[in-house]
Amino acid sequence: MLITFEGIEGCGKSTQSRMVLDHLQQRGVPALWTRQPGGCDLGGRLRALLLGREGDGLTPLSELFLYLADRAQHVAEVIRPALAAGTVVLCDRFTDSTVAYQGYGRGLDVSLIHRLNAVAVDGCLPDLTLILDLPVETGLTRARTRNADQGQTESEGRFEAEETAFHQRIRDGYLTLAAENPDRYAVIPAQGEPEEVFGRVWPMVCSRLGIAEHLM
Ligand code: TMP
Repeated sequence: MLITFEGIEGCGKSTQSRMVLDHLQQRGVPALWTRQPGGCDLGGRLRALLLGREGDGLTPLSELFLYLADRAQHVAEVIRPALAAGTVVLCDRFTDSTVAYQGYGRGLDVSLIHRLNAVAVDGCLPDLTLILDLPVETGLTRARTRNADQGQTESEGRFEAEETAFHQRIRDGYLTLAAENPDRYAVIPAQGEPEEVFGRVWPMVCSRLGIAEHLM
């Protein structure tokens, strides 16, 4: 079972996906948390390039191919073997990030991105995608505060520095994807404290995995 977590900057998907990991492990469900970009050795190197200032000169198309390279390697090296072993894989960003950011955000052809994503994942598709949705201003404020606290402005702040309209297109893009395929996506309102948001996330995960929400 592959569950992906998506959303704009500062939406809380990393916190939520790690909370899901903790809860699954407490239940004895084998689970793995991973992320894109950066969930394998090559990905770690690509992440530094893509999210740091070094990536400033990338054209939208070369940026797209680097995300796809990260994905192809990560699926082959980490995700597919884990799924084959019966592990629930929780992935912080996946194919939809490329559609939302490089497609709706940067303006590359969305149908081309769908086709290239399909090549990169070679049939490894999410069973459930949770989109953590909140207003762009709220997310950006959270993300910029977090980056400043962690001293990440130089190493990982490239997208947070983009204009508000860019992030608005990404949010709208995610909502469009969800509306097109309600079976695979759940849009979760992401405002509020982490525990409150988790109260909306956990039932979705349990229902897709066919497990009870509460410990027996
Ligand atoms: P995050 O792991 O903190 O969410 O940062 C990852 C950044 O990379 C985020 O700004 C979104 C961006 N990104 C893309 O633009 N396209 C992609 O395909 C992926 C996976 C991430």
